[in-house]
Formats: sequence, C-alpha cells, structure tokens
Amino acid sequence: MEKFFFDLGAGTVAYVGAGAGSMLGPAASAAVNGRKAALVFDAALPAEHPAFVKAALEASGFTVSAHALSGGEKNKRLSAAEDVYGFLYDSGITRSDAVVGLGGGVTGDIAGFAAATYMRGVGYISVPTTLTAQTDSAFGGKTGVDFRSGKNLIGCFYDPKAVVCDTDFLKTLPEKERVSGMGEVIKYGAIADSSILDLVGRGIPSDDIIARCIKIKKKYVEADEYDLGERHILNFGHTFGHAVEAASDYSVPHGQAVAYGMLAMIRLGEKLSLTGSETFGAVRSALLRAGLDAGYEPYLAGAYPFLALDKKSDGEMISAVFLKRPGEAFIKKLALDELCL
Ligand SMILES: NC(=O)c1ccc[n+]([C@@H]2O[C@H](COP(=O)([O-])OP(=O)(O)OC[C@H]3O[C@@H](n4cnc5c(N)ncnc54)[C@H](O)[C@@H]3O)[C@@H](O)[C@H]2O)c1
Repeated sequence: MEKFFFDLGAGTVAYVGAGAGSMLGPAASAAVNGRKAALVFDAALPAEHPAFVKAALEASGFTVSAHALSGGEKNKRLSAAEDVYGFLYDSGITRSDAVVGLGGGVTGDIAGFAAATYMRGVGYISVPTTLTAQTDSAFGGKTGVDFRSGKNLIGCFYDPKAVVCDTDFLKTLPEKERVSGMGEVIKYGAIADSSILDLVGRGIPSDDIIARCIKIKKKYVEADEYDLGERHILNFGHTFGHAVEAASDYSVPHGQAVAYGMLAMIRLGEKLSLTGSETFGAVRSALLRAGLDAGYEPYLAGAYPFLALDKKSDGEMISAVFLKRPGEAFIKKLALDELCL
C-alpha cells in the first residue's frame, strides 16, 4: 500500500493499494472531529462493499447512517444531490461529521458535491471502487452533476480530506467497466509515463500502475488546481473523445471514446509535424492489448460538428493537447478548423 499527500486546499491524504480499506477508520478519525459518518453508496454495488465500509467506520467509533444512490449517468442530477441533502438532514449530520462516498465516478461526483454544499461544506472522504474513479475522478477535487443536456454543468472544486483507494474493490468490477477505465490508464502512459504503455494488458492493472497514474494526476492538479492551464494535459484525447460520445448519443463508452480521441490527435500531430512517428504504434498497441478498439476513423466525420462545444474551446480557438512522443505531451492553441484537417 502507498500513501500520498495531495497539496491542495486543506490537503488530501490518500491510501492506495490492496487492503487500503484497513486505513478507512483511522483516516476518517484523523479527518474529522465528529463521530457520525454518512455513507453514500451506489445501490448497484455488490453488498459486501458497503457492508465492509460500514463495519470499518463503526470499528473506529463512528455511528454510521447509509444512503443508497441509484447509479448511472442519467441519475447524476441535482435531484440526486437533493436526496443526499435530505439524508444528511435526517441523519443529523453537522459540519464536524463526515460524508463518505463509496462507488464509481458518478457516486463520487454526487456525494462530493453534496458534501461540498451541505452546510457550506462537510468533511468528505472518498472510497472509489471503479478503475476510472481510482485513477482519476476521486482525485483533484472536481465534483458536480449534469444539468439539461450538459455534463458536469453544475459543480465546484472540493477536495476530499481522505481518499481510500482499495484495489481489492476492483475484483468485482464488470469487464466493460475495466475496459473503459483502461482508456484513461493508457492516457496517463501516453502523456507522462511511456512505460505504462508497455505494461498494460488484459485484466486489472497492477497496484503499481494504478499508483503511477495517481502520481501523474497529482502532479498536474497540484500545478493547476482550478484547471486553467497545465491541467488541460490530462484531457489528452478528450476533445475528440467527448465529440465522439456526443455524436454517438453516448453509446460509445467514455474510455473507448478517449481511445479514439487519442489516436485521432496523434494522427493530427503527425500531419502538423508535432508528433513523432513512433507514437501512434505505441499507443495503438497498448489500447489493443487492453481490449479497446483502435478503429477511430469511422467516428471522425460525425464528431467534427461537436468539437466547438468542447469546454476548452472559446468558439474559434481550442486548447489542444498533442504528444511529442510517447510519454511527452504539450498544449497548443489551434483554430477550430485546423482540428478538422
Ligand atoms: N470528478 C472528476 O474529476 C471526474 C473524472 C472522470 C470522470 N468523472 C465522472 O465519472 C463518471 C464515470 O465514472 P465510472 O466510470 O466510475 O462510472 P460509474 O460510477 O457509473 O460506475 C460504473 C458501473 O460500475 C459499477 N461498479 C462500481 N464499482 C464496482 C465494483 N467494485 N464492482 C462491481 N460493480 C461496480 C457501478 O454500479 C456502475 O454500474 C462520469 O459521470 C464522469 O463524468 C469525474
């Protein structure tokens, strides 16, 4: 198990690896003064996970109340956060108590947002259970819900006091979710650590790879907490990726869409003489080994009309992320029509 300290806000302690769940009680006790913990969990999780977390908190002296959320992106709405507010109110949670979010990115985004906004902020502890949440969404303080047709339109930055990232939870993860998470793992390899590209394969990545992904995320969020510049690097492949997701009406999973987006950006980088010729093959090979599809070309035409909607675009220019070579990324402002080469 590894321990990290994120130098953000009041600071976030993270425990990462198999068996990290044993640190939940001590981490929660160190994080808050109160003795009540409000557990918000994804109702679709195997029952052993919330039972384990509840027992761990109780063993450290917390009185635990629990609220099961309906998971899935379609439920990531203000109404879900409002249900959590009702649960916190009924449980008598105060600002000195803890909210504990257990689940994937959807649960973490809702529970973190509710913790950030209830009574202007209750201590939040994140217990991520998907590969996406363990390598990405549990870290960096972005919380929020979808609104109308926009993803994550309502939200705020709110750092958890602790993240308990027990990779044993991943043993029950469905294959489809593993594959989707691998898109982001490979993105970390592509932007900052090319050895990850050589190491990935079928199956859940090792604790070492997961910890390396978290270290990369830590580096970028500490440098640019509010996502105003350098943190955009973490969005490599996401501009085309989000456009592919939107054009497919979200039938292409996020990690797969990011995979297509990364390959499209590498090809564009080659055309603009920004990207070395060894890059495409290294990333494509990692994607295929992880079980992702690399046939991005059929998706490009449909994606183009959605590019201007990207959050990193100001309507005419877009802040695009390119690779120089595997493991080395940079940001370049481009006119939107240059993206359509
Ligand atoms: N806040 C951020 O920085 C950030 C970053 C990336 C993604 N996100 C958000 O994360 C969400 C996607 O997250 P996700 O991919 O984790 O999806 P998710 O939360 O919907 O979880 C995917 C599925 O896996 C199931 N599941 C979770 N853990 C499990 C386990 N251990 N065993 C068995 N089943 C399990 C869930 O019930 C769900 O059906 C999106 O809403 C996205 O916007 C946020």
